[in-house]
Amino acid sequence: MGAEEIKNICVVGAGNMGHQIALSAALAGYKVRCTDVNREVLQKAEQFVTTYLPEKVAKGKLTQDAADAARANVMFSSDLREAAENADLVIEAVIEKLELKRSLFKQLDSICLPHTILATNSSYIVSSKIADVTSRTEKVCNMHFFNPALVMKLVEVVKGTHTSEKTTKTLMDVSLRMGKTPVLLQHEIYGFLVNRMLAAIKNEAIYLLDMGIAGHEDIDKAVTLALGYPMGPFRLMDLTGIDLTYFVAMERYQESGDPIYRPSPVIVEKFIKNEWGRKTGKGFYEYPEH
Ligand code: 3HC
Repeated sequence: MGAEEIKNICVVGAGNMGHQIALSAALAGYKVRCTDVNREVLQKAEQFVTTYLPEKVAKGKLTQDAADAARANVMFSSDLREAAENADLVIEAVIEKLELKRSLFKQLDSICLPHTILATNSSYIVSSKIADVTSRTEKVCNMHFFNPALVMKLVEVVKGTHTSEKTTKTLMDVSLRMGKTPVLLQHEIYGFLVNRMLAAIKNEAIYLLDMGIAGHEDIDKAVTLALGYPMGPFRLMDLTGIDLTYFVAMERYQESGDPIYRPSPVIVEKFIKNEWGRKTGKGFYEYPEH
């Protein structure tokens, strides 16, 4: 299906990434249904939309009409079937657990219309690890947004050997309509482009911290003030979620058996203490407004 025929989008997962992908699509004029099994997460997502749009209007960044249209375009539902059954495109944005994604895609394959494209926003899991549970492998693809999805302009579209060119073209065009700049990866690779480069700096930062060379604040200062990044690696982990850093490392460690991928003690400790960053009010930094 071509991008011009995509009208209805379902976003599965209303967490950190999902709700902002949903709102980005609604602002671009798509009819969006955002779903999550966790009602509290769903409520928070809806609350975010309800406050975000008037704030943008007040700042003069959005007209009242555009805000009203976006609000009318997005609905939240805890019922996966209701959210996905009319979708032309599904963007899955649930946590980084392969088995969960596989079982979800299997369900989606049975719920969705035959033409529906099933995309995953996974940060690391390539769609070839998921596509085989569906009967539409040519319509399964990675479509990877960045946090915060309403702000960050890049989308990585990653073609699996099973993915048709029509599907990647459609996802590139949908990204453009959402005001994003897509890049196409012709082959699957772990971590795609951005997270591979980010991992290098993040791992080095954790190593320097673990070695007691400097504190997280000074390492962040070094990266922002000398390299010109908008955020240092520790503040960024707080933004993207320390749970994500933990799950990704565990998934890779368990799959490879290579201890080099084992999450660092500082990440394990923060994960266990529920210090997951902005979403829990504390990570490497504190977020009293949480
Ligand atoms: N959600 C939505 N919008 C946000 C936001 C958030 N969490 N944080 C900031 N914004 C918006 C603000 O509303 C503001 O919008 P406006 O210009 O329309 O008023 C704009 O962003 C700028 O915000 P601030 O002035 O408050 O703050 P900054 O200028 O410091 O920008 C930032 C905040 C955009 C988060 C910036 O610090 C940044 O770009 N940080 C780096 C983010 C990054 O590297 N992301 C990629 C992470 S890797 C990833 O996502 C991969 C995944 O697989 C894990």
